[in-house]
Amino acid sequence: MNKLKIMSVFGTRPEAIKMAPLILEMRNNPRIESTVCITAQHRQMLDQVLNIFNITPDYDLDIMQKSQTLEDITSKVLTGLSDVFKKAQPDVVLVHGDTTTSFAAALSAFYNKIKIGHVEAGLRTHNLYSPFPEEANRQLISILSNFNFAPTPANKHNLLMQACPANHIYITGNTVIDALKTTVYPNYSFDYKPLNDIDYTKQIIVVTAHRRENLGQPLQNICDSLKTLAESYGNDIEIIYPVHLNPAVQNTVRATLEGIPNVHLTPPLNVSDLHNLMNKAYFIMTDSGGLQEEAPALGKPVLVLRTETERPEAVESGTVQLAGVETPKILELSKKLLDNAAFYNKMAKATNPYGDGFASRRIVDCLLYEFGFYSTPAEDFVWNK
Ligand code: UD1
Ligand code: UDP
Repeated sequence: MNKLKIMSVFGTRPEAIKMAPLILEMRNNPRIESTVCITAQHRQMLDQVLNIFNITPDYDLDIMQKSQTLEDITSKVLTGLSDVFKKAQPDVVLVHGDTTTSFAAALSAFYNKIKIGHVEAGLRTHNLYSPFPEEANRQLISILSNFNFAPTPANKHNLLMQACPANHIYITGNTVIDALKTTVYPNYSFDYKPLNDIDYTKQIIVVTAHRRENLGQPLQNICDSLKTLAESYGNDIEIIYPVHLNPAVQNTVRATLEGIPNVHLTPPLNVSDLHNLMNKAYFIMTDSGGLQEEAPALGKPVLVLRTETERPEAVESGTVQLAGVETPKILELSKKLLDNAAFYNKMAKATNPYGDGFASRRIVDCLLYEFGFYSTPAEDFVWNK
């Protein structure tokens, strides 16, 4: 084998952000021929990431449609990718995390008898219906994968419990920390210009919420809590909420929060803007997985707008608390963070359970080891608590 042919397949914003540093690392390695296939399960929100990281896909299935169903995504990815795999004949396909793109891509690679590497493997809530359908996607991908890149020791443990062979599981850290190391810097000027006019000496709350299981009443509760906070604290706080393009999210959020002077609803931000905004925030409220990993590295407290999390490391370290999706608990914890300095300071400490910025390099080294280019794999990532 002259060069290892690696195809990365992804389709949504978080996959792109987390695969980007790995793609850049592979691009610079002379032993690897790296290609990229996007499904475009997301369109605008994916293209935003590709632009920031200067990645031009080799293949684009362009599948997104308004209010798409899980069946739409799964069937289009499955059939579209099979043609790409037959043409490109990669030695290994890399998929990321837990989206429906990732599951369908793994299934298609399996049908085509191509080896599969799973980046961000082993996260679990052990509740198949939460997050839905991501928990099922993760477990199904683990069954199909040949090589598992687990961000943390707990993730590796989950894979071992599912009987994934131990000698093909590597603890690498999360590539999101690699990405974060390239985006945040002092005196940052936002590409989304209105953010440059905010008074960052106030207590800034950054919010994202969009998950499928939160659509409907839970998202309504979240928005009601934000409205109450904005009205009770008035000029002392600014709430900034980049709103996901899903019409079901847009409708609820805009109906409740549009027009409140200290609530700023923005379009989805490019990742540099979002990371720097988080860096200026007082605290974060989110149902996102990625933000739960990024905020601890920045030393920002996070209230998770969900009833459970597959990311227990940051809860253990104290930066993240589960606030759930009921208004009284969300308000109680938010007010405590705003009013009680001791409580705030306990949560606001930088910790890096999710990586040290070298996850991509480890993954590349482990892949080259698996295919006989190297005699030893990379050393595991260790969290220095
Ligand atoms: C998907 C993933 C979820 C991930 C999230 C990240 C699945 C089942 N869900 O959920 O795991 O956390 O992405 O954001 O894989 N839309 C646009 N433009 C875009 C993106 C989305 O208009 O660039 C709208 C479309 O109407 C689309 C809808 O949002 O139909 C929902 O997108 P979809 O990918 O199905 O679900 P997400 O909730 O984004
Ligand atoms: N993000 C972004 N712009 C935004 C909101 C989020 O770039 O307006 C980034 C964020 O920094 C994180 C990722 O997108 O890296 C999280 O994606 P998302 O919340 O869509 O998905 P999840 O992490 O829940 O799977």
